[in-house]
Amino acid sequence: MVSIFSIKSKKLFGEIFVPGDKSISHRALILGACAVGKTTIKNLLESEDVLATLQALKELGVNIKKNQNLWEVYGNGLGSLINPNKTLYLGNSGTGTRLLMGLVSGCDITVTFTGDESLNTRPMKRVLIPLQQSGAEISSNSDKLPITIKGNKIPIPIKYTSALSSAQVKSCVLLNGLTSTGNTTYSEVVKSRDHTEKMLYYMGAEINSKYLKNGINKIELKGLPYLKGKHFLIPNDPSSAAFPSAAALIIPDSEIRIKNVCLNDLRTGFYESIREMGGYVKFINKKNLSGEVVGDIHVKHSKLKGIVVPKERVPSMIDEFPIFCIVACFAKGETVMKGIKDLRNKESDRIKEMVENLKKFGFSVKSTKDSISIIGNKKVNPRKEIIIDSKFDHRIAMSFLCLGLLMENGIRVKNAETINTSFPSFFTIMNSIGANFKKQRV
Ligand code: S3P
Repeated sequence: MVSIFSIKSKKLFGEIFVPGDKSISHRALILGACAVGKTTIKNLLESEDVLATLQALKELGVNIKKNQNLWEVYGNGLGSLINPNKTLYLGNSGTGTRLLMGLVSGCDITVTFTGDESLNTRPMKRVLIPLQQSGAEISSNSDKLPITIKGNKIPIPIKYTSALSSAQVKSCVLLNGLTSTGNTTYSEVVKSRDHTEKMLYYMGAEINSKYLKNGINKIELKGLPYLKGKHFLIPNDPSSAAFPSAAALIIPDSEIRIKNVCLNDLRTGFYESIREMGGYVKFINKKNLSGEVVGDIHVKHSKLKGIVVPKERVPSMIDEFPIFCIVACFAKGETVMKGIKDLRNKESDRIKEMVENLKKFGFSVKSTKDSISIIGNKKVNPRKEIIIDSKFDHRIAMSFLCLGLLMENGIRVKNAETINTSFPSFFTIMNSIGANFKKQRV
């Protein structure tokens, strides 16, 4: 087990690259497996979550190799997956599990999925319902992992409306619809990240999305597309970039630049909220890369004021609420986050973990079933080191390590190895701009 200790540091300064985007990395591997011919991927995020998806695809018969700094996926076309010899272990990865469940459900195979202590407690009903409608036979442990799916070679084309704004559910339904002979439609009340749609289009699928008059986003995918193997250059992850950005915003005199980050506006709600709080965040050198907007993020230490985050913004900053709570602790006045119930279903119950842990420092924090409110207080500085358990949640671990950079007596995060699921170079990158992190094996 690894503990990481962080303590008050001087200003953060410099230019950094965070690793490749996690969502796009999972999808590049999975869609590469559906294509005919070779897909090449540059800047794939080589974190535990993505490597778990990669390993699972290999068990399903897909040939994937690394050639210098390029990953090569040799797709055999739609429906070509084979029965694996063992249970697929997806570690901590909800994205890998839910997307692969969609894919497997459209093939003539039977697959059992399982994961680690955290993943095995996460709700899967959200994907099991549409997959059952499409004809997959499913047995589960009360809608949790381990789950066995007997796929349906030609899935029934479904018209699914989701009450949740979830890119994982959407992608699961679309991947399942790939082997269907008809059109699959998916409607969502607030549009979630659209990487799957963009990547499918880039590979040759007939897929379109439109906003209906009532504001619903409706996607239509024509079944059995001919997907061509393509090249993906993965932009860097805006969710990982949120950690150094947040630390720079709250540590006096800091100024950093984070290069080549994915700036898809369905992923940048955190930065929008920071701007609303008065924070200095600029997107520069914007360009288009395989259908995604990519650019550099320039952040300076700023005086911040509390805001109410609009509910419609929640999906575009869904992974950033833990680190956003840390920023809110240093804003003047109250910051309110509502409509965030699904944070309770992430790698940990993030509402509970943030609120209980922030209270240990003496911050004024309140929560309900689906909200958090925080009153900022720059004077908080406990007299002793505070210990946080990551609860196998990488974003809880990284958020509190950033908070430690303002604490005279520091913070120790137990089970910090969970950070390897999304951002293995976090420790090195943060220290390279001036953070004071120390690692300890226990
Ligand atoms: C993801 C979607 C989000 C996000 C997760 C990655 C994806 O989950 O929290 O980290 O890559 O599709 P939900 O779709 O459950 O909101």
